[in-house]
Amino acid sequence: MKGVILAGGLGTRLYPLTHATNKHLLPVFDQPMVYYPIQTLVRADIKNIMVVTGGPYAGDFIRVLQNGEDFGVEHLEYAYQEDGEGGIADALRLCEDFADGEGITVILGDNCTDANISKEVKNFKGGALIFLKEVPDPRRFGVPVFDKSGKKIIKIEEKPKDPKSNYAVTGLYVYDNKVFGYIRKIKPSRRGQLEITDVNNLYLKAGKLDWSVLRGFWSDAGTAESLYRTGVYWARKILGKKEKNLTNFDD
Ligand code: G1P
Repeated sequence: MKGVILAGGLGTRLYPLTHATNKHLLPVFDQPMVYYPIQTLVRADIKNIMVVTGGPYAGDFIRVLQNGEDFGVEHLEYAYQEDGEGGIADALRLCEDFADGEGITVILGDNCTDANISKEVKNFKGGALIFLKEVPDPRRFGVPVFDKSGKKIIKIEEKPKDPKSNYAVTGLYVYDNKVFGYIRKIKPSRRGQLEITDVNNLYLKAGKLDWSVLRGFWSDAGTAESLYRTGVYWARKILGKKEKNLTNFDD
């Protein structure tokens, strides 16, 4: 199993912060954001990793990650996504040669979690596996629609106005090598991007999409609010519960 971290895009939702560097290198408490997805992959024993980045600060990644040795990564490769707003599936397209017929675990560079997905990765038998997490604001995400049993997903809607469940499809996916064929089949969405949700819906149609609920903390950090909230979670985790008043500067 190989690993892919998607860290492209222009990070426009975080302007003016992302005028200074790539979104995925901004701090989440005491680490650059991209450290978290790397640690998630290494925790699952995935040590052969490709980072896809792009935009004006792509070069900054080399300085921060170097060859990945400090994280326990055995092999680190980089790819450059030319179209900054091409979408997640467009970035993933660039990993076909790297995957070289193997399965890939994909994580978005702004997805920070302390979950351990080793078991799911080890038991993966092909098709696609997505990870869900209950969230208070599903409208911001890909959202699964379940059948009456509540166990079977019938479709995934991207950023629905009227979400049919309280789950987000997290930016953590395990795919077999068919993913690249599916990417070739999809067309840009209304926001002009190749959507990973369209790829997941093709797996679903083929009866090859499995899901699991992610255990542990999960948040994306792609907006000022979620970046702040994610940092506070890690600050409390590291500094201890007594720091609950981290946000109270009155005393
Ligand atoms: C992307 C995906 C969405 C997913 C989310 C998870 O959204 O399109 O399906 O739920 O990542 O972080 P975006 O970050 O592009 O808004």
